[in-house]
Amino acid sequence: MIPRIYIPGDSGALALGAEKVAKAIEKELADRGIEAKIVRNGSRGAYFLEPMVEVATADKGRVAYGPVKPSDVKGLFDSGFLTGGHHKRWLGAPDKIPFLAKQTRLTFARCGVINPLSLDHYKAHGGLKGLQNAVALTPADIVKQVTESGLRGRGGAGFPTGIKWKTVLDTTADRKYIVCNADEGDSGTFADRMIMEGDPFVLIEGMTIAGIATGATKGFIYIRSEYPHAVATMQKAVEAARKAGVLGVNVLGSPNAFDMEVRVGAGAYVCGEETSLLDSLEGKRGQVRAKPPLPAHKGLFGKPTVINNVISLASVPVIMDKGAAFYKDFGMGRSRGTIPIQIAGNVKYPGLYEAAFGMTLGEIVDEIGGGTATGRPVKAVQVGGPLGAYFPRTLFDTPFDYEAFAAKDGLIGHAGIVVFDDSADMLKQARFAMEFCSIESCGKCTPCRIGSTRGVEVLDRLAQNIEPEKQIALVTDLCNTMKFGSLCALGGFTPYPVMSALNHFPDDFRPTPVAEAAE
Ligand SMILES: Cc1cc2nc3c(=O)[nH]c(=O)nc-3n(C[C@H](O)[C@H](O)[C@H](O)COP(=O)(O)O)c2cc1C
Ligand code: SF4
Repeated sequence: MIPRIYIPGDSGALALGAEKVAKAIEKELADRGIEAKIVRNGSRGAYFLEPMVEVATADKGRVAYGPVKPSDVKGLFDSGFLTGGHHKRWLGAPDKIPFLAKQTRLTFARCGVINPLSLDHYKAHGGLKGLQNAVALTPADIVKQVTESGLRGRGGAGFPTGIKWKTVLDTTADRKYIVCNADEGDSGTFADRMIMEGDPFVLIEGMTIAGIATGATKGFIYIRSEYPHAVATMQKAVEAARKAGVLGVNVLGSPNAFDMEVRVGAGAYVCGEETSLLDSLEGKRGQVRAKPPLPAHKGLFGKPTVINNVISLASVPVIMDKGAAFYKDFGMGRSRGTIPIQIAGNVKYPGLYEAAFGMTLGEIVDEIGGGTATGRPVKAVQVGGPLGAYFPRTLFDTPFDYEAFAAKDGLIGHAGIVVFDDSADMLKQARFAMEFCSIESCGKCTPCRIGSTRGVEVLDRLAQNIEPEKQIALVTDLCNTMKFGSLCALGGFTPYPVMSALNHFPDDFRPTPVAEAAE
């Protein structure tokens, strides 16, 4: 058997030096005259172990090593790593590594396991079963399954996916569209990128099912311009799917037609907002549209459109394969299934952790994430991207659940969490949130366009200790206006990071008076 070596080629692993490791392994193989097959897989998401190289052995299955540096490569060969030999970077079977072993991988089951661009590999690991089941059903039955699974949008708002699909199914039109939102602008998030680079066919399968379920024959994947590797992988995967008859006029030989194209985003955070994204796809400047009409009634080019996040769509194949009840069995309350939590920032074990809803924030940060990378105490965790609230330790008992977070004035968003240690200055973080909003505002409505700029000024005065009580009252009032008066969640949710920082860390908002500090 020719040895098979898996070296991740996804952006995260590449940023950590995977390409240099691949080159070093290729050279070592050539120098030693060993024949081996190198597979560039996606990452399994344990980024603290990347570049994580795996070898498929005859007797021990896959054996992992990491984090591998180019300087380790000679030693790895000397230690017999092609047959799973021991070395200081030896990790053993990848699915026994605690960070990976404890996960419930439904959506990311194949990510890091297969060759992302091999349709055969995809099928050998359960791929296309969901689509095969879907082509045998009526659109209404597919929508029913998705509704019953309890799947909610993973892009941020948590809207029930089945209800959105039903609206499009029930709207009569000569053309309908499926748009995949892969703009992934939230800080600390990388789930969309990871799956597009590690298992692109699962997204294609999910979008195709969405098309058949709603009567849409055309899909677009709108990927942020900062993701060139994801763009390239998706483009190749779409071509391969077309060639194999997964896409085209007869999806898997059925009478259903569906095809899709990859489009590259415009580099604006607001283009992740669904209506801005549609404007951008239509070739216009990305600006938020007033609702109604909903995109499900009048979306892309005025036609009924399903717009869903990458993870929402990529979760559909497992639902259609294993059934709504199987998926719904995971989770808590109205948050059903699994969620890929992205742990980032100042944290010891950064990575993607897919688990059923319901783990507490404390478990995620302290146990899975291992606390801070600096070893200092955790001060705050921002959950849900730049519009998410900062949670202090006292809220670490909050379960990862849409309603539980909302009850504490927070949000799950796209499930990115960014950890901060006790050196973080929460007044600066609040200012950052306002500044971010002022830079990224599409300018359509006043509370956001003007309010965010005034907010930065007020927080600057507070930092200079100019009439602090007055500034705190002013910023609170301003946040109220933005929250209730903004057209979309960019202006409407910026108050969450600002007010959570102010409410949970009031000491940071009362800078020491200059005279006192000098004493
Ligand atoms: C300012 C702003 C930025 C957003 N960025 C994204 C994004 O990058 N990706 C995403 O999927 N949803 C994003 N959303 C949410 C989308 O508007 C929309 O709710 C989502 O694409 C719907 O898909 P889902 O139901 O599958 O979550 C953003 C919303 C706002 C207000
Ligand atoms: S809240 Fe901000 S981003 Fe949203 S529509 Fe208004 S100006 Fe545009």
